[in-house]
Amino acid sequence: MIKAQNKCKSIVVKFGGSVITDKTKSYTIKHDVLDRLAKITKDYLERGGRIAIVHGGGSFGHHEVKRIEDEKGVLESSDAPQIQYSMLLLALEVSKTLLRHGIPAVLHPPHTLCEKPSVKNCRMSPILRDYTQSLVPVTYGDAIPYDDKIYIISGDDLAAALVSILNTDCLVYVIDEPGVMTGEGKILETVTSLGDLEIRENNRIDVTGGLRKKLETALELSNHYRGTIVITNPDGFERILKRQDITGVGTIIRATRPED
Ligand code: IPE
Repeated sequence: MIKAQNKCKSIVVKFGGSVITDKTKSYTIKHDVLDRLAKITKDYLERGGRIAIVHGGGSFGHHEVKRIEDEKGVLESSDAPQIQYSMLLLALEVSKTLLRHGIPAVLHPPHTLCEKPSVKNCRMSPILRDYTQSLVPVTYGDAIPYDDKIYIISGDDLAAALVSILNTDCLVYVIDEPGVMTGEGKILETVTSLGDLEIRENNRIDVTGGLRKKLETALELSNHYRGTIVITNPDGFERILKRQDITGVGTIIRATRPED
């Protein structure tokens, strides 16, 4: 029986690109969803919650990468500015929405923080600086030019790195399903290993690996992170933030540990 720590008084949340953008249409934001997420977040902050926000690329970054690949066949470091610009456009819209709701959001573009395309090489201290001052850091998946090539650093990885640095109770991945779904459309309560897990995944443009990669990252993190990792949708996110507790929401990701 897996005992999870259920309180979520501090959170790193990753808003999936498919939640805040329409992945079927380039450069299209789901403003209604973004507004809702901002409102939920503002209420949580007013009740003493602490949060850092990471978001994905959706129909901005992913579509830009795909467009360049289709056009040229390769991605070179000289393509980074276009991808970075597409992500900045989305990040500015996210920030604008958060600020409009009275959330003190501070944007941290990863291409200015990450020396190499791995989270280990990202300077997170400015994010920690803002978080400790009760501001709300916002960062996102981005393109990092390195060694004449381009690497995409995913928001999932950044979020996983941030929970340890900010020492938050929970890591919440908000996707467009209520949790990890089986092939039969049932929500899995917990995922403890990838094993022969059959997961339902929509076949959409995704240059950073989709749900399977997210699960890999989360399982790996759960080996040393003592907080709770949960995958859910905006409804689940609202329930977690209202109650500051994850009980019964979404899918908990926790690799089996020797002490279990
Ligand atoms: C991707 O970030 C960023 C770029 C493609 C530049 P993510 O991998 O975190 O995005 P989503 O959540 O899958 O859209």
